[in-house]
Amino acid sequence: MSVLELEDLKVHFPIRSGVVFERTVGYVHAVDGVSLSVEAGSTYGLVGESGCGKTTLGRAVLRLVDITSGHVRFEGTDLAELSGEQMRRARSRLQMVFQDPLGSLDPRQNVESILAEGLEVHGIGRSRADRRAKIVDTLERVGLASNALSRYPHEFSGGQRQRIGIARALVLEPDVIICDEPVSALDVSVQAQVLNLLEELQSAFGLTYLVIAHDLAVVRHISDVIGVMYLGGLVEEAGADELYTEPMHPYTKALLSAVPIPDPVVEDAREQILIPGDLPSPSSPPSGCRFHTRCPWRQPERCDTERPELREVAPGHRVACHYAEEILAGELRPRSADVASDTPPRA
Ligand SMILES: Nc1ncnc2c1ncn2[C@@H]1O[C@H](COP(=O)(O)OP(=O)(O)OP(=O)(O)O)[C@@H](O)[C@H]1O
Ligand code: SF4
Ligand SMILES: [Mg+2]
Repeated sequence: MSVLELEDLKVHFPIRSGVVFERTVGYVHAVDGVSLSVEAGSTYGLVGESGCGKTTLGRAVLRLVDITSGHVRFEGTDLAELSGEQMRRARSRLQMVFQDPLGSLDPRQNVESILAEGLEVHGIGRSRADRRAKIVDTLERVGLASNALSRYPHEFSGGQRQRIGIARALVLEPDVIICDEPVSALDVSVQAQVLNLLEELQSAFGLTYLVIAHDLAVVRHISDVIGVMYLGGLVEEAGADELYTEPMHPYTKALLSAVPIPDPVVEDAREQILIPGDLPSPSSPPSGCRFHTRCPWRQPERCDTERPELREVAPGHRVACHYAEEILAGELRPRSADVASDTPPRA
């Protein structure tokens, strides 16, 4: 059963200009027609380069930004149809963990008051003692001792701070946690510990995760399904293993070709696909396929004029490219200027 469902979700931010008479001169198409669903108890990994709209999508699910059009359904109910009180209750069941634990934790509050805040807002726990017991229990679950209660965020390491961020979400007994770049501010050695913790909590509490990252390597092991975003749209979605072994969209192929392979023979022989140029501005996205300005497989006319639908090319594998099948079959080759061989020159 899908617990979270997005249907043609769009978030466009107005760009305003003018000193005396401010007017809207355009829109940033931060999220531009995303449809996806997340199964209960599973992890959906959402990846894409900086500025492609990942955080905005996460915030739109929690209604922290206004939705321009489309729908977000939580357990089948459109969140837009909930009253203020119903939305407040839904919000405790939909939580978010942020990238920068220090920036998202109030430095003037100790850990107990950071965690108690949500409990008080949502009316959870009969008394202060009740809430404290729940907080201590949650801290233990995330691997922090009860003496953390009276300490302040700056007294902890980066990894411990992220554990506090996770505890803040977990204490409200959510069903879904949106983790926005949960480990990208952490040292590599600590990243695995935090990802393992997220996995442990998922199996203990049956949590559903939407994990946002710009790094494919981060989401690979914890995701059941991975969606790749480019300029506000989903360009590919598949089971995590399938996406890695058989990426079909040119953008995904290029992203994966940049990830080193820990096998020297394969590594030496592989081709690296270079993505030329910069990410276009989401305030004036390219016509047709959003990726056509950088795509090594771009074909005349159709790629420039017709926006490809995200369509199911194999069971559970959706791709937004007019030529996905031809590229997979090797009938279309990338422009050679965009392919670099990693093979070192032989002496
Ligand atoms: N409140 C806002 N008002 C106007 N534009 C915004 C706002 N929030 C985000 N944007 C713009 O929307 C686009 C998508 O931003 P978003 O933060 O969602 O990207 P992201 O994929 O999370 O990037 P990153 O990997 O850097 O976190 C960017 O061009 C950003 O500048
Ligand atoms: S539709 Fe065309 S431009 Fe877009 S990814 Fe496919 S081949 Fe490249
Ligand atoms: Mg972001």
